[in-house]
Amino acid sequence: MKPPAPSSSRVSFLLKKARVSPILLTFLAFVAFVTILYSQDLRCLFGQFDYSDHPKHNKHQTISPTKKNGGKLPFAIGETEEGCDVFSGRWVLDEVNRPLYEESECPYIQPQLTCQEHGRPDKDYQYWRWQPHGCTLPSFNATLMLETLRGKRMMFVGDSLNRGQYVSMVCLLHRLIPEDAKSMTTNGSLTIFTAKEYNATIEFYWAPFLLESNSDDAIVHRISDRLVRKGSIIKHGKNWKGVDIMVFNTYLWWMTGRTFKILQGSFNDEVKDIAEVSTDDAYRMGMKTMLRWIKRNMDPKKTRVFFASMSPSHAKSIEWGGSPDGNCYNETKLIEDPNYWGSDTRKSIMQVIGEEFRKTRVPITFLNITQLSGYRKDAHTSIYKKQWSPLTPQQLANPVSYADCTHWCLPGLHDTWNELLFAKLFYP
Ligand SMILES: *[C@@H]1O[C@H](CO)[C@@H](O)[C@H](O)[C@H]1NC(C)=O
Ligand SMILES: *[C@@H]1O[C@H](CO)[C@@H](O)[C@H](O)[C@H]1NC(C)=O
Ligand SMILES: *[C@@H]1O[C@H](CO)[C@@H](O)[C@H](O)[C@H]1NC(C)=O
Ligand SMILES: *[C@@H]1O[C@H](CO)[C@@H](O)[C@H](O)[C@H]1NC(C)=O
Ligand SMILES: *[C@@H]1O[C@H](CO)[C@@H](O)[C@H](O)[C@H]1NC(C)=O
Repeated sequence: MKPPAPSSSRVSFLLKKARVSPILLTFLAFVAFVTILYSQDLRCLFGQFDYSDHPKHNKHQTISPTKKNGGKLPFAIGETEEGCDVFSGRWVLDEVNRPLYEESECPYIQPQLTCQEHGRPDKDYQYWRWQPHGCTLPSFNATLMLETLRGKRMMFVGDSLNRGQYVSMVCLLHRLIPEDAKSMTTNGSLTIFTAKEYNATIEFYWAPFLLESNSDDAIVHRISDRLVRKGSIIKHGKNWKGVDIMVFNTYLWWMTGRTFKILQGSFNDEVKDIAEVSTDDAYRMGMKTMLRWIKRNMDPKKTRVFFASMSPSHAKSIEWGGSPDGNCYNETKLIEDPNYWGSDTRKSIMQVIGEEFRKTRVPITFLNITQLSGYRKDAHTSIYKKQWSPLTPQQLANPVSYADCTHWCLPGLHDTWNELLFAKLFYP
């Protein structure tokens, strides 16, 4: 059984409103809706994520907030080998143990991520395993994960990339739960997977900036002119209280150019007080606000907080030495250059994260997935996904034009992110 697609209910809501001149209004509503949903992909296509004149940073320090806490961390059952950075490694083909589940056996994958169902001809992207240089990752033990969640709440908060990781986690666990003892429901920004016999929930909360913004509607997000309200995390944060294991991400939505607009007052102010600051500073403000919320609301003796770094897009082949007009479309191989990094924006945001996390005393575990994902130009959904609107003949003639080089097929890369989460949760 497929979980209900939230989009369809919104469509019918829009249609119901379109009484006056039904055909025209319906059409307009649908076009607007599709445009909005598609904004991320369009942005990916237009390559707006790249601003190539940011300063280059080449720090290779790792953050180990886990050590700051002194004693044993909640949920820890062992330790990663001394000196092993699990995020530094290489991809190896593993046709024996991959994929960790089949696309067709996990009904929770949204149709934007089911690549095989949408005609992807190759399957290699499902068979790669991450091999750290300094140690071996523990195998993902679904029984252990689910037992650990007994009587607990795990929550992913962030954007569609974090939603992908959330769905992957549900797919990794759901097989252990009988059909009539699990459910997934969505109400507004919150999606909840419940494992009844375990009294456990795994939840996803849509907040692409973590802070209050004008893109907070889970279905209809404003596209252009994004606005984030300074320091405003309480409105969303009240829905996160009582969570035992938290996974945050935020990145892509901040990438609207060199600068970003921050609202100083309230969204209800008649005359809005808006400051335009550098994207780095805006993001830094977001980090500080998140860390302050964690400090005030999460008990480090009982809970764990993770933060996943930027998920890289592959919208420009030229970044990895490909043709000038290509992107992830038709890519089935990995990037082999171990030093590959991609856009410089990622570097400067990584620098901001590094600085803020090193300063804080809040125990937060960093999932540094950016570089390892950067090698995976093969793993995007590309054209193999449910399209929100019929494609035009021009688009069909040029698949590069509508390939989604931001999101990732499932099973696939997100499963590795969860293996890393698993490793850091139990073997910090
Ligand atoms: C997985 O975890 C369960 C519960 O802790 C344990 O009993 C089992 O032996 C583990 N399985 C493997 C393969 O390590
Ligand atoms: C179920 O889990 C919640 C936390 O998510 C907890 O507050 C509650 O006491 C648990 N109920 C039972 C019956 O264990
Ligand atoms: C959905 O959430 C709203 C507010 O968070 C709540 O008032 C409403 O009862 C919820 N609806 C359902 C069906 O749970
Ligand atoms: C896809 O890539 C293969 C080589 O990897 C190439 O032979 C083929 O022409 C490409 N197809 C398209 C439509 O670009
Ligand atoms: C994340 O990993 C990359 C590549 O190993 C490294 O350059 C970067 O500094 C790391 N980020 C942080 C904040 O530790």
